[in-house]
Amino acid sequence: METFTSIDAMRAWCREKSRGGNTIGLVPTMGALHEGHLSLVHAAKKDCDHCVTSIFVNPTQFAANEDLDQYPRPIEDDLAMLRDAGVEAVFMPTADEMYPGGPQTHATSVHPSAVALPLEGVHRPEHFVGVATVVMKLFQAAPSDRAFFGRKDFQQLCVIEHMVHDLNLPIEIVPCDIVREPDGLAMSSRNRYLSDDQRQRALCIGKSLNQVEQAFLEGNHDPKQLESIMADHLSPCDSVDYAVVVDRQTLLPISEITQNAVALVAVRVGVTRLIDNRELIVA
Ligand code: PAJ
Repeated sequence: METFTSIDAMRAWCREKSRGGNTIGLVPTMGALHEGHLSLVHAAKKDCDHCVTSIFVNPTQFAANEDLDQYPRPIEDDLAMLRDAGVEAVFMPTADEMYPGGPQTHATSVHPSAVALPLEGVHRPEHFVGVATVVMKLFQAAPSDRAFFGRKDFQQLCVIEHMVHDLNLPIEIVPCDIVREPDGLAMSSRNRYLSDDQRQRALCIGKSLNQVEQAFLEGNHDPKQLESIMADHLSPCDSVDYAVVVDRQTLLPISEITQNAVALVAVRVGVTRLIDNRELIVA
């Protein structure tokens, strides 16, 4: 497995590997890898001739009061996991390589609107500018045919899909299903912040989504009622940023589920912020 810290070297590797029409699959991550990330790697390897994974804890998507400094960086473990998974190349730039002179010296960034504005956009106002900009930069550093993103970060996936469409980027976005722990907790790099007690309490997130899905499948198509079912189950959390049922395309509120919808949750357990979701597909 090759590792690259320079954009030029990474780009040269992609150019070389794509000769003769071979396809490249890119899996962007911030490291602290788990089976959720590896599921994207497996999908990329299955779908494409070559697979590259990026590990970059992107400072511009963290607000000043967030966990940038504490974000786990177990780089040796990450590289071992990627090697075992059969990844051929890892792009692991320094912050200076991605933002020479610091992000504040950049004159250009990607400002997503519409789907980026509600939900996470309300609670983390600069977050998606940071995400969209770094993903755009990763697409330039590791030019690939397809990029693999998890449905775990449902709104992020929507923002990236819109960016690719709106800016005519020559890359296909491949959404991948949420991978969960056996007890239903969605895998997340931030789960390692949880104490045993907090982890037990966090199980209410998956349970609340199970209840909503069950009620929906039994014919309850009223978002307000589904939201109150969710709220009832989320009481073990320390706070709830949102627990909503919205349109799956626009992420905007709906008065009745007549088209596909999605239940989205963001909570805090202790100081750890966790997100999860469940798509509600109209038969
Ligand atoms: P990160 O949180 O490391 O996640 C990288 C990718 O893994 C994302 O596409 C995310 O949706 C996916 N993922 C995380 N947990 C998952 C799970 N349990 N099941 C399936 N997929 C899962 O998301 C980011 O990094 C960053 O914002 C990034 C896109 C890399 C830009 O910095």
